[in-house]
Amino acid sequence: PNTRLRVLLDMDGVLADFEGGFLKKYRERYPNEPYISLEERRGFWVSTQYGELRADLCDKAISIWESKNFFMELEPLPGSVEAVKEMAKMKNTDVFICTSPIKHYAHCPYEKYAWVERHLGPDFLEKVILTRDKTIVSGDILVDDKPDILGPGQLAIIERNVNSALYQKILRQNVWSSVHKSNRDWIMQQDSDQKHESVEPNPSWEHVLFTACHNKHLPVSTTQRRLLSWADNWRDILEGKC
Ligand code: TMP
Repeated sequence: PNTRLRVLLDMDGVLADFEGGFLKKYRERYPNEPYISLEERRGFWVSTQYGELRADLCDKAISIWESKNFFMELEPLPGSVEAVKEMAKMKNTDVFICTSPIKHYAHCPYEKYAWVERHLGPDFLEKVILTRDKTIVSGDILVDDKPDILGPGQLAIIERNVNSALYQKILRQNVWSSVHKSNRDWIMQQDSDQKHESVEPNPSWEHVLFTACHNKHLPVSTTQRRLLSWADNWRDILEGKC
């Protein structure tokens, strides 16, 4: 029996400061356009929220992370590099970096490897998993800032549902508690229906939600554990799985 603990770590928003790097470069490139401060960020997709601000800003946002050196130059999030190095040295523990590249592949996949080599060292290149679907990767824990980790099939469904005015409102504001009980139940049901259409409906890992500017307002789930930052008790979270 395999008694080792396998930890999967997301990269953008967990190890690397995607949101901070995005905002800095967006404001440099488009100094006269409106922007969304990190305090006002809601919902995982930066492009969606910029598109709501003004339709043409969606493409402007995308142009930032499709540019050369965007992923390479992201700063590590505070404490992330130290935590990963320490975690990788723990006995009976295997750490992998599990990250989804963008489909505009000119720079992103190369720069993700280069970032890992630069900040974590060449040995960590062995540990990089690039996948657009994390549900098919097996592990004990996945630390990720994306609230809903789904396969491509589910993403298509969400994109359709995201058009509902109610869901948009919930993403934009912290209004979960003011949503009528019957509507809350309906949304939860939609959510669980979607889970059945996953490429892998029952991923082996427990998703630990890493807190980020875009997810900190989400209602506390009774089933999902959170890691508030790398200063939080990540050792205890691993411990609970041994
Ligand atoms: P992740 O799920 O491994 O963190 O990967 C997120 C990927 O999605 C990353 O490559 C950047 C990309 N991305 C978009 O395409 N649009 C967005 O609005 C955001 C926030 C990320």
